[in-house]
Amino acid sequence: MKTIAFFDTKPYDKEQFIKFGDAANIKFKFLEAKLCADSVELAKGCDGVCAFVNDTVDASVIDSLFSMNIRVLAMRCAGYNNVDLAHAGGKLQVFHVPAYSPHAVAEHAMAMLLTSIRRIHKAYIRTRDFNFSLNGMTGFELHGKTVGVIGTGRIGKAFIDICRGFGMKILAYDKYPSSDLDVEYVSLERLFRESDIVSFHCPLTPESYHMLNSQTVDMLKTGAVIINTSRGALIDAEALLDGIRSRKIGATCLDVYEEESEIFFEDFSGHIPSDETLATLLFMPNVIVTSHQAFLTKEALASIAKTTVDNLSRFFDNQPLQNEVTLK
Ligand code: NAI
Repeated sequence: MKTIAFFDTKPYDKEQFIKFGDAANIKFKFLEAKLCADSVELAKGCDGVCAFVNDTVDASVIDSLFSMNIRVLAMRCAGYNNVDLAHAGGKLQVFHVPAYSPHAVAEHAMAMLLTSIRRIHKAYIRTRDFNFSLNGMTGFELHGKTVGVIGTGRIGKAFIDICRGFGMKILAYDKYPSSDLDVEYVSLERLFRESDIVSFHCPLTPESYHMLNSQTVDMLKTGAVIINTSRGALIDAEALLDGIRSRKIGATCLDVYEEESEIFFEDFSGHIPSDETLATLLFMPNVIVTSHQAFLTKEALASIAKTTVDNLSRFFDNQPLQNEVTLK
């Protein structure tokens, strides 16, 4: 039996991890704390660590894990920008879940877009208050509009398929364009200039950091809708806010936020907001924020647990490894 320290546990994580873990002789020690230099000691005595998007796996955490004889980190997510891979080399083998359900995220992106442009979030509140007025509820149609998709990997492709179903024109940008995808690839500048809707589906890297910034906001069509279900720091939140204030940006749908790590997944209702930029964004009538929930479907949770347990089993059983991430 191997024991894995499972950081940043939420109630919805447990069922599937217990189910797949039991079948593979892996026991999870569920911890509420996020993984960071202050909490890493909680992993003492465990054989490995399982972490999530807002845990901090920096050099000091990696060194601490190494000193505890822990050699495996299973990320239960696709992105791993919060792991210092350069430092992990030779100390910690890192695994991730590359594709649990691209449809979960792509469908959430479309759900946010439709909610925003058809004012469903406002209608929900109005009708519950017996307010059946339609003033201020005029939306626009997606049919015939141009959507710019940044990143045409698994999620970007699923999103493109959905957009095609709505009769939209697709423009795509990818640093490594896919040869088997029937889509018009254009420069990032052309995508920003010609798209009615821009949706981010690329990973966060030094290159993609603040891809939407004050210069690129200027390139946007007036009234453009921005969707980010990828990683918060792809967008400079201050530049986004300026774009909303100047009416350049017509609406914004965020499932991720640059400074989300101390805020998202937790209940701060009743607290005075500590992040003024987020508070101002939430105050805007044309901004919708969800709390990094695009992945959260029954199908995706089962798939994440199954792949994570499989990644760990292969490591412990010396079987051919899958889904290992290393510095490219
Ligand atoms: P993927 O690896 O299948 O596709 C990523 C695509 O981005 C690839 O085609 C790659 O060539 C491209 N790319 C890499 N660097 C780029 C750059 N600088 N500019 C433009 N394109 C670039 O990844 P997948 O599964 O489609 O996931 C995309 C992102 O979605 C993940 O990196 C993660 O950050 C985010 N995500 C968010 C979730 C949520 O719950 N909100 C859940 C899962 C993933």
